[in-house]
Amino acid sequence: MSAAGEILGVQELEGNDFPALRTVDSSSFLVRSARGRGYGKQMRAAVLALAFGPLHAQAAITSAWHDNHASLGVSRALGYRPNGESLHARADGADVMVHMRLQRADWLASGAGDHVQISGFEACRPLFGLPPTSFRDHPR
Ligand SMILES: CC(C)(COP(=O)(O)OP(=O)(O)OC[C@H]1O[C@@H](n2cnc3c(N)ncnc32)[C@H](O)[C@@H]1OP(=O)(O)O)[C@@H](O)C(=O)NCCC(=O)NCCS
Repeated sequence: MSAAGEILGVQELEGNDFPALRTVDSSSFLVRSARGRGYGKQMRAAVLALAFGPLHAQAAITSAWHDNHASLGVSRALGYRPNGESLHARADGADVMVHMRLQRADWLASGAGDHVQISGFEACRPLFGLPPTSFRDHPR
């Protein structure tokens, strides 16, 4: 993530066994001075547009500690719904991790990705474990 040429953070997207599960997970980090200014929502929307767009994901999941209001705020703002809680080890013992899930239909209905532009995707298809553009599109 960068703004005006300054690197502000990183937005990750991953999908274990993606061709079968069509589900992506994400994690985000912004430098302290960049938080609370809408960048978190922007960068999550960017990778969700990639996931639900050319990657044809069916769902996105995410998890955050119950008291990480900024992370949960990004998820709620983008239409994720509650998907359970679990106990995880933390420095001072066990604490509650909140899980959230965004369904493809909810993402599309929200229009949150309508303003995101994706370029250069086709050349990257093999890097995502996808077959190259279909034979029909590349006649010999
Ligand atoms: C989590 C993180 C990426 C969120 O990005 P951000 O730029 O701070 O969040 P945004 O400004 O985009 O806010 C998105 C939404 O969350 C809400 N929100 C943000 N910070 C909040 C806070 N401290 N308390 C309550 N709501 C908050 C905003 O109001 C907004 O909702 P809205 O659009 O409905 O108004 C960022 O805060 C960060 O890097 N934190 C440290 C690392 C981290 O915790 N990563 C996630 C690990 S699971």
